[in-house]
Amino acid sequence: MALPLITLAVVAVLNAFGIDPFAPEHTKSASPRTPCDTPDRGWVCNPDAKLWGQYSPFHSVPSPIDPLVPKGCSLTFAQILSRHGARDPTLSKSIAYAATIANIHETVTSYGYSYEFIKDYQYTLGADQLTAFGQQQMVNSGLESFRRYSSLAREALPFVRASGQERVVQSAVNWTMGFHQAGVDDQNFTTPNILPYDIVVIPEASNVNNTLSHKLCTAFESGPYHSIGSSAQSIYAARFTKDIAQRLNENLPGANFSTPEKVIAFMDLCPFNTVATPPEYPLDPISPFCGLFTTWEWQSYDYYQTLGKWYGFGPGNPLGPTQGVGFVNELIARLTGKAVADRTSTNATLDGDAATFPLNRALYADFSHDNDMTGILGALGLYDGVQPLSNTTRQDASDSGGYSASWTVPFAARINVEKMVCGAEVAGEELVRILVNDRVAPLKGCGADSEGRCTLSKFVDSLEFARRGGLWDLCFK
Ligand SMILES: *[C@@H]1O[C@H](CO)[C@@H](O)[C@H](O)[C@H]1NC(C)=O
Ligand SMILES: *[C@@H]1O[C@H](CO)[C@@H](O)[C@H](O)[C@H]1NC(C)=O
Ligand SMILES: *[C@@H]1O[C@H](CO)[C@@H](O)[C@H](O)[C@H]1NC(C)=O
Ligand SMILES: *[C@@H]1O[C@H](CO)[C@@H](O)[C@H](O)[C@H]1NC(C)=O
Ligand SMILES: *[C@@H]1O[C@H](CO)[C@@H](O)[C@H](O)[C@H]1NC(C)=O
Ligand SMILES: *[C@@H]1O[C@H](CO)[C@@H](O)[C@H](O)[C@H]1NC(C)=O
Repeated sequence: MALPLITLAVVAVLNAFGIDPFAPEHTKSASPRTPCDTPDRGWVCNPDAKLWGQYSPFHSVPSPIDPLVPKGCSLTFAQILSRHGARDPTLSKSIAYAATIANIHETVTSYGYSYEFIKDYQYTLGADQLTAFGQQQMVNSGLESFRRYSSLAREALPFVRASGQERVVQSAVNWTMGFHQAGVDDQNFTTPNILPYDIVVIPEASNVNNTLSHKLCTAFESGPYHSIGSSAQSIYAARFTKDIAQRLNENLPGANFSTPEKVIAFMDLCPFNTVATPPEYPLDPISPFCGLFTTWEWQSYDYYQTLGKWYGFGPGNPLGPTQGVGFVNELIARLTGKAVADRTSTNATLDGDAATFPLNRALYADFSHDNDMTGILGALGLYDGVQPLSNTTRQDASDSGGYSASWTVPFAARINVEKMVCGAEVAGEELVRILVNDRVAPLKGCGADSEGRCTLSKFVDSLEFARRGGLWDLCFK
């Protein structure tokens, strides 16, 4: 295996902490069925796993409006926007977690009741890549997409794009495998269906226009806007971690949980060890780290992560929704069959070419990251009118218009934009609606009906923020 120098340096750092990013447990292929991830409902094991913010595994979110296609309607179009599946921690975090464990092993001499397992625990997580569980989530997501949208794939398979980071591309590949397999298993599906499907990969770099990855907007990447999310998180973290720190210090004497960040890093070990458990593991694979915290504490952790997304990339950040404008303008082009009109992050070369941006397809699937999807949700205006989230008092997602990190951008999250025709009901004009992880998110500002839908023309009108470029000019001031 030829690895670039930078990778070798990184591997050396991980090895110094006893981490082998290429260890067999991280590359082992998954079994076809997993006990905890299901194609139709996502995660079905321990319910606390739905309280891990963006580190929650995808789970079908309760929907006050029926997510099934309404009776008498038939779909004419669907756009799926998906986050990558579950991954190992990012590199800097993986190094920090390894250091946390090394420090505990070095300083703690007596372990409290139910903390004893930590004595023998070895930190073996890699960095950045999909786990076997994450791959299986994407295969299952592809299966589920086929079930929902096979009628739209009768003319042509889905048109697929992925942002360039390896785990995102890999997620797209695994999703196509699930979609393909469901097609093979359906005798009625006669569309030519051969792997690999074509995927347009758009590189992630600060000089590349990519609507699936923010990097271009200078003021957002490094200016004062950049720290709004972490400032809101610090205020909340200082409150909810106090009692936890005391308990950890009692049970792991010497480990010195002296800051909220140290407590949160320790809690992170629960989700990351759980999603690193191979999917064929026969029992509920919840990591023993999870049981060291109460459901109330996981609710607080979830809200902490929610603040980071809302104020970091979402409606709570003046430049957050602007990062999602390019994708929304592409969505308008796909919905209306008209050329892309955008002056933000779209690439005119790619979007002007029918090979890389066709306008005549019925089914599109794009793959990206939690932060980018958060900006796109903002640009779609789905949470307009929601009270700004408090940095001191936790609010339930159901009291915040359905907004939380675990309800919007868990691992393998999916936003589905659907267009449909419904009998004679609406004089022929197509209707649009949006589901966020199976929860119908009623459209805002376009006179949505009781099913959360608007007519196509009113929906496009309502996306005025995106059509005028959001606040893109502030990016360069
Ligand atoms: C995901 O895709 C890779 C090929 O890129 C494959 O090796 C792996 O087995 C797939 N995972 C699953 C769960 O099918
Ligand atoms: C295939 O189509 C036939 C006729 O419409 C239907 O009865 C059958 O259930 C379909 N099979 C599958 C696997 O969808
Ligand atoms: C736009 O896409 C083309 C084709 O992939 C690529 O060569 C070019 O570098 C891209 N430009 C920008 C600014 O992203
Ligand atoms: C915390 O919330 C208060 C009240 O809404 C607000 O005035 C303050 O700016 C917020 N601080 C941070 C760092 O988010
Ligand atoms: C605990 O860590 C803090 C820094 O986070 C340090 O100031 C303090 O001296 C440490 N206490 C012990 C007992 O090691
Ligand atoms: C890339 O985006 C910038 C706006 O940020 C725009 O000026 C430029 O023309 C775009 N490049 C392409 C190839 O579309």
